[in-house]
Amino acid sequence: MRKTVIAGNWKMNKTPAEAETFIAELATKVKNPACEVVICAPFVDLDAVVKAAKGSVIKVGAENMHFEDKGAFTGEVSADMLVSMGVEYVIIGHSERREYFAESDCTVNKKAIKALEKGLKPIICVGETLSQRESGITNEFVAMQTKLALKNISKSDAAKVTIAYEPIWAIGTGVTATVEQAEEVCGVIRATLSQIYDDATAQSITIQYGGSMNAKNADDLLKMENIDGGLIGGASLVVDDFCTIINYCG
Ligand code: 13P
Repeated sequence: MRKTVIAGNWKMNKTPAEAETFIAELATKVKNPACEVVICAPFVDLDAVVKAAKGSVIKVGAENMHFEDKGAFTGEVSADMLVSMGVEYVIIGHSERREYFAESDCTVNKKAIKALEKGLKPIICVGETLSQRESGITNEFVAMQTKLALKNISKSDAAKVTIAYEPIWAIGTGVTATVEQAEEVCGVIRATLSQIYDDATAQSITIQYGGSMNAKNADDLLKMENIDGGLIGGASLVVDDFCTIINYCG
C-alpha cells in the first residue's frame, strides 16, 4: 500500500533559531506516527532542521532546487548541495514558484528528473486557478500538468515521486476544496498516472492535497480514497496544529 505523507511547507517563514525550537518540540510530540512526517524549510534553515530532526521520525525537505548540477546560477541551490546536507525531499513546481518565479512545466520536469537522479524525493505540485475551475477545465489542466511533469521519468523513478494537488484558489485563502472536489481531482491524477505507467504504479504513488488544510478539516480530507496525505502551509507553522493533522493518519 502507498505511504501517507504529511509534509509542512514553511514557505518564507522562520529563522534557523525558530526552526530549531519548532523541530525540537515537534520531535518530542511525534514519536510513532502512522504516516511519514516531512518538514520542508527555507534553504538557510535546512542545516538547523536536519540537526534538530536527527534521531527523530521527522524527514527534511527543501522548497526548491535548480535543475543544473553547478555553475553560474546566482542565488540557486543544487540537488547535490541538498543531498550533502541530509535533505531527503524537495518540493518542485509549487504554484507560488510558477506564479512569481516563472517556473514552467518544462523546468518542473527538468527539476524532477535531476532530483530523482540525485536520490531526492520530489513532491511535485499541480493545481488549477479559480478561472480554470470556473471554466470547467480543471481535470484536463491538472492531467496535463501531471503528464508534463513526469515526461521521460521511468516507472521505477515515478514510484519515488509524490504528487501534491494544490488548487491555487485554496492556497492561503482559508477556502479549502470540498472533500468531493479534492477527491475528484486526486482521482484524475491517479487515472493519469495509470495511463502514463500502469495501474499498479498509479496505486503505489502518494497523492497529497494542499490548500488551507488545517487541524479542523484535515480529518475528512485524509479519509478519502485517493488523498494520501497533505502539503500544509500555514498550519505547519504551529506545532500543535501540525501534530493534530499527523494524528488523523492511521
Ligand atoms: P496553506 O496551507 O497555507 O493554504 O498553503 C498550502 C500550500 O501552498 C502548501 O504548499
